[in-house]
Amino acid sequence: MSDLIRLVYASKATFCDQHVGARHQTVDEIIRQAQARNIQDGITGVLCFDNGCFFQALEGERDAVEALYDRILEDDRHQEVWLLWKRPVVQRLFDKWSMKYINVDAYIHRLLTRERLTKFDPHHFSDPLIEELLRAIKASEARPETPLTSPVQWLSRQEAQSRWQPSLILTGLTGMIAVLIALALGGFL
Ligand SMILES: Cc1cc2nc3c(=O)[nH]c(=O)nc-3n(C[C@H](O)[C@H](O)[C@H](O)COP(=O)(O)O)c2cc1C
Repeated sequence: MSDLIRLVYASKATFCDQHVGARHQTVDEIIRQAQARNIQDGITGVLCFDNGCFFQALEGERDAVEALYDRILEDDRHQEVWLLWKRPVVQRLFDKWSMKYINVDAYIHRLLTRERLTKFDPHHFSDPLIEELLRAIKASEARPETPLTSPVQWLSRQEAQSRWQPSLILTGLTGMIAVLIALALGGFL
């Protein structure tokens, strides 16, 4: 008979002294390793990484999930691994995802703000917040803009945005200066 469980934990990355590219590369490697292995082990779930913290939900047969959690506890890429939940479930929430990487987006930040949490630190998530977060992640499956599967993709989008912002400000300032010079030359100032 099937003995499905869902296990949720929080942890802190040990590689946060690396530069941002290397950090995201490490998270990317963890996800690739997890996805390949979870397919073999019949495990599904989601992984979030933000503010140097991991939040992961694992689903599957009890023996497989417990064996994975034992390996995860031994993994030196993170520390302060706190078990938040281990519950029997009748069905999986994330049955299509061998291990989906979820960006901590504006929606998740709104949930945190509502709970008066200023940062993404899942060690302090309450049970109802975890429940709501998992449901919201599940619901994101149906949204047209699906979460990116790779933190490297996420990083390149962030970098692209941060490269654009200063150049837009510069263009705006140059335009304003040009208008002021034109007004001064025209004798309006
Ligand atoms: C945050 C984090 C999440 C991980 N998630 C998984 C996972 O979902 N599945 C998995 O097989 N390994 C995962 N790993 C990697 C395991 O800790 C472990 O390195 C891997 O399963 C290989 O174990 P082995 O070398 O003992 O075979 C994760 C590691 C970290 C740091």
